[in-house]
Amino acid sequence: MINREKSLTLLKGHIQAENLIKHCLATEAIMRKVAQRLGKEVELCGLTGLLHDIDLEITRDDQSKHALVGADLLEKEGFPQEALQAIRAHNGERLGIERQTEFEHALAASETITGLIVATALVQPEKKIANVKIKSVTKRMKEKRFAENVNRDIIKECELFGIPVEDFVALSITAMQGIADDLGL
Ligand SMILES: [Fe+2]
Repeated sequence: MINREKSLTLLKGHIQAENLIKHCLATEAIMRKVAQRLGKEVELCGLTGLLHDIDLEITRDDQSKHALVGADLLEKEGFPQEALQAIRAHNGERLGIERQTEFEHALAASETITGLIVATALVQPEKKIANVKIKSVTKRMKEKRFAENVNRDIIKECELFGIPVEDFVALSITAMQGIADDLGL
């Protein structure tokens, strides 16, 4: 399997949009923390998070291919089946794939919570991730109209891999704070 440096080069070779790169970096950071907590392979989980949306610009005009194209691409880079399936399943709603494993739920929940945390940071005066509190995010989570395209049910899948929502929020904020400069937040 390719290393982190090659993974980032591969990602940047396929994704132009800076915000999307940031989303991928945030997902990676959260997946690493989740893997540590669950005792899973940190590097594999991290790189799967980093690369989960690699095909998003290729499949822009046909969302029914999003994640399938990416999984094929990463298969060629030596990613194991469990990671490829997690990538496909993160677009499971559209592809008709049901998420089953902890890995699959972890990727979907991690990539989804990034949006809620960024949105929470951006409505604060300083727009800094350093100032984002667990309570602000859990409160925003209950406000349906806030960042309404963020699917709360997918975030709650964290419970299916044994992390309560509040813990998952805390872990995700900490993960993103660790790469604040990269995120520009
Ligand atoms: Fe994503």
